[in-house]
Amino acid sequence: MSDDAPVVLTPPDKMPRHVAIVMDGNGRWAQRRLLPRTAGHREGAKAVRRIVQACGERGIEVLTLFAFSSENWNRPRREVDVLMNLFVTTLRGEIRRLDQANVRLRFIGDLRAFSATLQEYIAKAQRRTAANTGLTMVIAANYGGRWDIAQAARRVAEAVVAGKLQSEQISPELLHDFMSLSDLPEPDLFIRTAGELRISNFLLWQLAYTELYFTDRLWPDFDVSDLEAACAAFAGRQRRFGLTGEQVARRDHA
Ligand code: FPP
Repeated sequence: MSDDAPVVLTPPDKMPRHVAIVMDGNGRWAQRRLLPRTAGHREGAKAVRRIVQACGERGIEVLTLFAFSSENWNRPRREVDVLMNLFVTTLRGEIRRLDQANVRLRFIGDLRAFSATLQEYIAKAQRRTAANTGLTMVIAANYGGRWDIAQAARRVAEAVVAGKLQSEQISPELLHDFMSLSDLPEPDLFIRTAGELRISNFLLWQLAYTELYFTDRLWPDFDVSDLEAACAAFAGRQRRFGLTGEQVARRDHA
């Protein structure tokens, strides 16, 4: 569960470089207010705006958001339609502001399943912000961690068949280079809202050493103080990457 760390400003050198979030609880937020689930997604988009700004201001380098999983296609048709419309309108409405805020926008996932219009907005948004040097905002859309591993394996196999690689050369490091986000720092902090204690096929490969943080807060209610609380909990963790606690303490004091 979430750590009960007191909310103090985390010193910059203890901040996560890359935060990855499963934005859960939009539907419950709406249902508790007797509103349609889609109202929760609209409110969730407002939370995205808040948290993107807060991450940029705090010098976080990468924010990866799970916006639509490969499995979300199975939701009621109307909800999927509303989500797709929300992505298009948010992209259209926000791109200028994001660009001005020096945000670089990236998408990961199998984008071919989206409408031609949405794919076009996505491509335009990526092109327009490609040279920005502030926060990199990654939107995982029609993304699944297993899909990511499979697409990397397929591309490695193609390279072997084409004679560009020997199968003996396949290692975790090599496979890593074929995974989404391989050019960015690995996620330091994973946040999931709405009380579910699962990864739900998000960044399976990339989360190998990520610190996990869970909060009961529903995504539309998630605000800057919740982000601060997650960062404070992260700063209080000892990351061992397979070493012993003593080894890490010796290394940190060397
Ligand atoms: C999970 O809540 C949320 C989603 C499947 C969609 C997330 C989308 C947004 C926050 C919209 C805006 C995003 C961008 C990037 C513009 P849920 O519906 O599973 O909630 P529940 O578990 O309470 O039913």
